Amino acid sequence: MGTGITIVRADLERPDHARAVVSLTAAYAREVSAHGAPLPEQVLAALVPGLRAHPTAIVLLAYDGDAAVGIAVCFVGFSTFAAREIVNIHDLSVLGAWRGRGIGRALVEAVEALARDRGCAKVTLEVQENNRRARGLYESLGFARVVYDPADGGALFYAKPLVAPSATARDDWRRFDAARIPSKSSTPRLDRFLSGLLDTLPADPPPTLLDVGCGTGHLARRLSDRGFSVIGVDVNPEAVRAARAEVGPAEHHGRSPRFVEGDFAGADPPAIDGGPFDVAVCQLVLSIVGDARQRARLLRHVHDALRPGGWLYLSASGVSDGINPGYARLYEADLPLTGERHSYLSRDEHGVVLYMTHHFEVDELAGLLEGAGFVAVDVRTERESSSRRPDEAAFFHYVTCRRD
Ligand SMILES: C[S@@+](CC[C@H](N)C(=O)[O-])C[C@H]1O[C@@H](n2cnc3c(N)ncnc32)[C@H](O)[C@@H]1O
Repeated sequence: MGTGITIVRADLERPDHARAVVSLTAAYAREVSAHGAPLPEQVLAALVPGLRAHPTAIVLLAYDGDAAVGIAVCFVGFSTFAAREIVNIHDLSVLGAWRGRGIGRALVEAVEALARDRGCAKVTLEVQENNRRARGLYESLGFARVVYDPADGGALFYAKPLVAPSATARDDWRRFDAARIPSKSSTPRLDRFLSGLLDTLPADPPPTLLDVGCGTGHLARRLSDRGFSVIGVDVNPEAVRAARAEVGPAEHHGRSPRFVEGDFAGADPPAIDGGPFDVAVCQLVLSIVGDARQRARLLRHVHDALRPGGWLYLSASGVSDGINPGYARLYEADLPLTGERHSYLSRDEHGVVLYMTHHFEVDELAGLLEGAGFVAVDVRTERESSSRRPDEAAFFHYVTCRRD
């Protein structure tokens, strides 16, 4: 190891050590994550408090003079077959400019010494198959791929992500700042579709329309002005209040839209009077409503709210990695968190997760609608700008279909 390098056990109460843990982990994550995606701010903020609270965390830091240049984050486990503790090296990294100076080796040796002192049965770690350099280091230090019985082949490392944003999707939207709900104000396809429909539907009584996930109600007000009797439903209470406030007191508004708080992704359908509806509009909701089960539920509830033969107009985000490498990065970086291809976590400018977004393949979307009981499913795809990032390209799907 180069002169001047020291290995210390981190004291996570010390601000300089805490800062070193965060910056080294952030640098490591940028290197190993897909396309250099950074760790979200809230993960970095929770890192040191989480390690402090963990009963068996051990963190070693490598310093070159005053500069923290390497880290080993370890956790103590237990071997039932040896009835002794084991130490797992969870992260090991050295800043790029300090590689080749024996710092990684010194960190692993320090972990081993510490594990021996505790009387541990073994030290374990995980390494990427193609990381030849790290494998070379570990193998030179006596680590070997785990094979309990050659007849059974080697041991494989499995993981199941449990950070399922789906469980919190509705809470995310209930709490969402209503003034910042993303939307599209220009809707030429919807306008054409509704014009065609109005030509075929009797005007008196006015055709009924359900706006699912209506936000603060701007679309519902426009549709009401076009002659529909509109009910807008949204899970966000503040958005519903704002939508009602725009319309004014009920006695003044004749054919103005009504707004109701309701959850279209729950196990039970939301209670809405005024149905069954001639038309449902669901703009930019299916992509953000949660996981696959919640999407299926939403479509089923919309289907059941329509009269037989009633129309659904729906828009949803399309898989866009082919036209926007930013989306390719997001899908890949967030896969361990979403557990689903073509999904990612939409974040605000500080990296705080707002909600999960799913982008659909055409066949996937059509299959989902048919599975919910819709027929005559027609999907058109447009290349547009992303609803939250106007300077970036994204595909959007526009669907019309009917309840049988
Ligand atoms: C991207 S915004 C689109 C708003 C509106 N459709 C538009 O195009 O302007 C998604 C809306 O769906 C609502 N939403 C999310 N989950 C919902 C659920 N489970 N049931 C009803 N509305 C929901 C959100 O509160 C939000 O207002």
